[in-house]
Amino acid sequence: MNRKDCVRVAVRVRPFNKREKDAGSRCIISMVTSSVTIQDPHDPHNRRSFSFDYAYWSHSGFLRDHNGLYVPEEPGGRYADQDSVFQDLGEGILENAQQGYNATLLAYGQTGSGKSYSMVGYGPNKGLVPKLCDRLFEDIRGNQATRQCQVFFSMMEIYNEQVIDLLSRSSRTSGVLRVREEQHRGFYVEGLRTVPCDSAQQVEQLMEQGTRTRTTAATHMNANSSRSHMLIILQLKQIFSKENITKQSSINLVDLAGSERQRSSGSEADRLKEGTAINLSLTTLGNVISALADVVVGKRAVHIPYRDSVLTKLLQSALGGNSRTVMIATLSPADIFYEESLSTLRYAERAKHIQNQAVVNESPTERMVKELKAENARLLQRLSRLGQDGRRANEETKELRQLLTNNELQIRAIQTLWEQHLQDALKDWELQYATITQERRMIQMFPSIHNINEDAQLSGVVKLFIREGEWDVGLCDSPQSITIRGLGIQEHHAVFRNEQRRVTVTPHQGSKVIVNGQTVTQTTELQHLDRLILGSNSTYLFIGYPSERGGEDCSRYDYDYFQSELAAAEGIHLGESSPGGGQTDPSLLAVFYDYIKLMPMVAEANQMSQELKKDIEFKLEIKNLAASDSKGHDLEKDVVVRVTSLPRKQVWVWSKNKFVNRKFLMEELYQQQQQQAEQRTVDQGGQDTSRAAALQDKDPFWDPVEPLLLGTAHLWLQSLVFRIPLEEQLEVLSSEGRAEAILQVQLVPCSSTGLPLGEDGILMDPSELLGQRLDFQLVLDQCFGLHWVREAHNRGVQFGFRIFDCSQPFYTPAVWNQVNPLLHHHIHLTSLHTTSSLLDYLQSSAVVLEMWALQDGCTELVSSVDEGRMTSDGTFIMDTPPPPPPAPSKASSAELSCSVKTLQQEVTQLQRLNASLMKENTSLREQLHNTRNDCPAAWYCSSLFLDSDPYLPAGVCAAGDDGGRRRSLRPSCDADLARALKVFYHSMTSVRAQLQRLCRHRPSDESDLLGLRLFVNEHSRLTKDFSEQLDQTVSRLKHDVAAIVRWKRSANCS
Ligand SMILES: Nc1ncnc2c1ncn2[C@@H]1O[C@H](COP(=O)(O)OP(=O)(O)OP(=O)(O)O)[C@@H](O)[C@H]1O
Ligand SMILES: [Mg+2]
Repeated sequence: MNRKDCVRVAVRVRPFNKREKDAGSRCIISMVTSSVTIQDPHDPHNRRSFSFDYAYWSHSGFLRDHNGLYVPEEPGGRYADQDSVFQDLGEGILENAQQGYNATLLAYGQTGSGKSYSMVGYGPNKGLVPKLCDRLFEDIRGNQATRQCQVFFSMMEIYNEQVIDLLSRSSRTSGVLRVREEQHRGFYVEGLRTVPCDSAQQVEQLMEQGTRTRTTAATHMNANSSRSHMLIILQLKQIFSKENITKQSSINLVDLAGSERQRSSGSEADRLKEGTAINLSLTTLGNVISALADVVVGKRAVHIPYRDSVLTKLLQSALGGNSRTVMIATLSPADIFYEESLSTLRYAERAKHIQNQAVVNESPTERMVKELKAENARLLQRLSRLGQDGRRANEETKELRQLLTNNELQIRAIQTLWEQHLQDALKDWELQYATITQERRMIQMFPSIHNINEDAQLSGVVKLFIREGEWDVGLCDSPQSITIRGLGIQEHHAVFRNEQRRVTVTPHQGSKVIVNGQTVTQTTELQHLDRLILGSNSTYLFIGYPSERGGEDCSRYDYDYFQSELAAAEGIHLGESSPGGGQTDPSLLAVFYDYIKLMPMVAEANQMSQELKKDIEFKLEIKNLAASDSKGHDLEKDVVVRVTSLPRKQVWVWSKNKFVNRKFLMEELYQQQQQQAEQRTVDQGGQDTSRAAALQDKDPFWDPVEPLLLGTAHLWLQSLVFRIPLEEQLEVLSSEGRAEAILQVQLVPCSSTGLPLGEDGILMDPSELLGQRLDFQLVLDQCFGLHWVREAHNRGVQFGFRIFDCSQPFYTPAVWNQVNPLLHHHIHLTSLHTTSSLLDYLQSSAVVLEMWALQDGCTELVSSVDEGRMTSDGTFIMDTPPPPPPAPSKASSAELSCSVKTLQQEVTQLQRLNASLMKENTSLREQLHNTRNDCPAAWYCSSLFLDSDPYLPAGVCAAGDDGGRRRSLRPSCDADLARALKVFYHSMTSVRAQLQRLCRHRPSDESDLLGLRLFVNEHSRLTKDFSEQLDQTVSRLKHDVAAIVRWKRSANCS
């Protein structure tokens, strides 16, 4: 295989960003020469290594020099800077292009991994594209004597399968172009603007223009730029007039969309998942690469799905075709992105196998001339040998000469055309340049607002100046207005006033204006570096007059900063992790960043819902996973979105992935409707409501109603190991900690036929249950104060729970339309052979009782427990029978006979012990009988032990002071201790419940002063109750233990 024609792959890892540093991330990527290793953060032994053509370590070992350039700490250090990447990749691409090959450079990686940094660069750290242009024009100037070059530049974006010309002079909608196919040309974008250039500065300006179009398009259409692919095409035409050869090559430079977007909603089910092409182009690119890799390993009849997406159509020749292709795969070094980085490495691994067939693109006319010349020479030779045929050959030569002259004329014509194009382009540049110079001048004179985008590459691109006077801000477009577009921006949104070098903003009624995280409704003065959010999410940084500006670093006011400030205003914030100080819990950080990522999206979704008249409201919630953990230990939290249909009061809860998925679909719908609305205004047509209704099942705002998990209550099972019945009133708490209802439940130890056991069944020692049968009933009696039903009466609830190792849930029958429904639900559970793991479970776990909300039109939940575990009388068997012991093998029979012998000896010893215990037992019984006759009060006391007097120690009788006889009454003081502890545990269960009640007891959000006073009174009462209960329980235990110790001491003395 010719490695030269294989796709060359480079991998680059970037430094940690602020988020990753805050999260205390670990670097999981290591590189040795050109091999890259990734380590699974959850399993240190799980490492995967990949080898590529190049591996660039840009993670550490660098410093920022006085020009702002990131360079290696020491000369020859391992840090790969922009220059070294260019030397390997950029130079190669240029060389290929100069030889007449098509060349392609693709940047692939998750959002924020450094694709644009490598391709375009930031500030002085120029990326591959500008460096390549610098070098290209340098070369052109250096070789002017041997060849004449023409460079054409075009720039486009593929967003949602639409090609947008970023250099188009018209608005975005008319800038949408079609991809066409021609037999000899392949796929191409029809009408794409190609601009002739003859210097790197011109290319830079064009790129600036393209980025500006991209930014405004993204804000106007509410499009997410990291979902779009950016393509730059440089066409290089070299005319070697001496050799009469024209070489043409196309350099495609592609900054792909963030790769994680294609994972859609992950493993979660979503009705619209199938129809969701979050990024069809990227998914298809992956399929094309896989198919091409299959071709290389010899799989036959592989279909390469180039035609499935716009991007792959345009990259057809770059992948498996006529191109020399390089891919740079960029990685985040952080452990939290292990999955994403591994998937990028796998993708890159597949890409490196792709074999292209690059050919030099010489112009066919030129080749024909060359061939004709050769033919001519041969003819002349023949001519000299065959004298009489001379005349005819001469004629042919004449013809050939004619052809050559024509050809030269043609070349000259092309050159003149080029000059013409260049002149036109120069005029354009002058205009452009004038705008840029004017902008630079104005920034030194006036305050302005600069856009801040989620994609750092697009931040600060739009600068809007606030000159002296009064300026209307909004969609309006007049000489006295500043036009801003975006979701939730009104025609007249606000007014900026610049008077006496003071700038104020005054929102119009109903418009959303946020300054530094706070909503403002009145005139507010703006200070240098204030953060402004207009509408649902148009973010701008205010830059004051030059006199107010210091040398501050504005880059800290990035998109994250705006959103964190907004979250802080909602009461959600993180303490700044000081260097060397305590780090914030990484899992909390993850939730915080999820929250601030989703917050603007939720605002946008609400705005779209409002504009599209969907009557759906979205709200972010933080879900506490401890609510569903049977041990109540899980401290993890997750962000979910509560979706409410306002008119019908239907509620859904969407996971963050599902919401993100749906948000993309909402954007698409919104854009479609915008375009249709524009069309309608043109056509003067009416509304097509019937069509909208027909599309309901594709509507991203809509879902069929389904049961919703409202909240959970923990019923601790500890009392069962002593076979003590338990009756509880549990609070059902939502995942946000709000009390949704009170649930009255019981745990009743019972016989196999379901009869309650009573006091006789109480056990001293839980281990007595081992190997024994255990029966109990779980009773759900009643539910009180159901908020869910109080809000809307056509609702219902159902309870569900799972027990021990049974993964399927039980569900109680549904109860509808009642705020305090009677449930009367009993379930008999049995363990035929209590194992130690079941005992552990009972001692340390709770049954999580889930309260499911039912709403109009939804299907009730049905138990799906394994049939084999239910007996005919409806008893559920908790434990599965133990597996049969494995058949002994021949090799172990000697060992077995040996252990059988030992066991026999142990059995004999146990039998002896048993006989002596039985004897002792008989004598004890006799003594007991005598005592009962002598002192009935002592018997009564000992049989009731603690229940008779709370302050009487377990087993200690107040009546009768015969120490010897008392001693003979108790089998051991351990049993007393066990009893005391059992009582203690029992009391602690209610103490704990009281504590939980206390913790959850909060004033309602709407409480006024009176409400708060009532709350304080109630809270003091609860605290008093709690403290009394706790005192009582502890002093009872102390009392019991002291009595046991006293008794033991006196026993030892006698
Ligand atoms: N090699 C690097 N050295 C220093 N900083 C880097 C490097 N690579 C990336 N960064 C920084 O990381 C941030 C994200 O990089 P970049 O914008 O290139 O990501 P991206 O992959 O293009 O993301 P998106 O898919 O959202 O466009 C930027 O602030 C950039 O400056
Ligand atoms: Mg980018």
